[in-house]
Amino acid sequence: MASVLIIGSGAREFIFAKTFANSVDHVFVAPGNAGMREAGFETVDLTEIPDLITFAQSQQIDLTFVGSEALLTEGIVDAFQAEGLAIFGPTKAAAQLEGSKAFTKSLLHKYDIPTAASVTVTSHDEAVQILQNHAYPVVVKLDGLALGKGVSIYEHPETALAGIDIIYQQDEHAPLVIEEFMQGPEFSIFSFVGKEQVVHAPIAQDHKRLLDGDRGPNTGGMGAYSPVRWIGDDVVQTAIKSLVEPVLTAMQTEGTPFEGILYTGVMLTAAGPKVIEYNVRFGDPEAQVVLPQLTSDLYQNIMALIAGKPTSMTWQDADADVYLGVTLAAPGYPLNPEKGLSLPSLPNDVQIDYAGVKQQANQLVSNGGRVLTAVIHRPTMVAAQTDLYAALDQTHTDLVYRHDIGHQAVAAELAEE
Ligand code: AMP
Ligand code: GLY
Repeated sequence: MASVLIIGSGAREFIFAKTFANSVDHVFVAPGNAGMREAGFETVDLTEIPDLITFAQSQQIDLTFVGSEALLTEGIVDAFQAEGLAIFGPTKAAAQLEGSKAFTKSLLHKYDIPTAASVTVTSHDEAVQILQNHAYPVVVKLDGLALGKGVSIYEHPETALAGIDIIYQQDEHAPLVIEEFMQGPEFSIFSFVGKEQVVHAPIAQDHKRLLDGDRGPNTGGMGAYSPVRWIGDDVVQTAIKSLVEPVLTAMQTEGTPFEGILYTGVMLTAAGPKVIEYNVRFGDPEAQVVLPQLTSDLYQNIMALIAGKPTSMTWQDADADVYLGVTLAAPGYPLNPEKGLSLPSLPNDVQIDYAGVKQQANQLVSNGGRVLTAVIHRPTMVAAQTDLYAALDQTHTDLVYRHDIGHQAVAAELAEE
């Protein structure tokens, strides 16, 4: 009779709720969304750490799972653990891996983990000096959490200098990471990290840019697919050995061991895989295409990871189906999303994970930027892309979506024929 509390309100938390519900009796989501309520999950309107602790105690929650980074960097895991409550995620100190790019870059450089060369500066003068002598393009990253909007790539010194003028007008001592521009395909590794064991999920590829052809501004993620067959297992194993395992060892050596989900953003450069960034939670929309591949009990496995016991986390065969997920967003996303738009009706074999939705006149309508993720699985990417887009295009929805999610995988499949 286990009960689980999931914290968050997006499509990622929706698929976690569905996956936990395969084996536990009670799944609560705080604060959740109206789509989750419609699917039968109990949502609780709480967002503050002390209130969540009181809820977990009063409902005798067996496991709390945190979807996004904000509460992790605030120290929710430390606070729950201080009360003797089971929670899966990194402590505040370990969550710095996502919370501070300056912290992470200095750790990577100290332990020789492959990543873009970088310097951290904390003043306008220092930044100008570096930018005047840097190779271009150059990458400039704000230090703290920025919801995917903290990274700028500049082609010329003039635009870079104008960019940092604005930053230092707002904060005289803003910490900035200035780094080398890397090139190559990107993929993400998701690792379930326990006290004694680490389990890696099938890799995924996200599409962060808003528009087709990887143009437009960065978003939280417009679509993803998994597994990524055109990236060889040898590359993945090299990335695990050179980018994932050493950072976990480094965190241990530093006295801040990492537990929870480690998301390693990898760029496959000509010099091998390098770290773009780490996140301390699952990706959204990547969770929506990775979790359905789990063929064992999520709850039991996470409890075993927390307890330092052996786990048996298993995934569908790598040559089984490919999962393709497309984010449907409100027009105006990411800056000014329209609310109150009706939602498309999709065929039964499309998995729908709701995010920014609300109930209005007895039906679900849009209430946020990313509204839902639509996921399909098929034996090939060509079939998945053809069938999912046929279903989406037939709905004539007002929501917007990219039309080319999975383009690299489709091109690789077609080239093999
Ligand atoms: P991040 O928020 O660090 O994941 O960065 C967002 C996106 O910016 C990444 O997915 C990359 O596409 C791009 N990016 C970040 N760092 C670099 C880099 N050093 N070189 C080239 N592209 C980068
Ligand atoms: N999809 C990217 C992220 O979750 O950060």
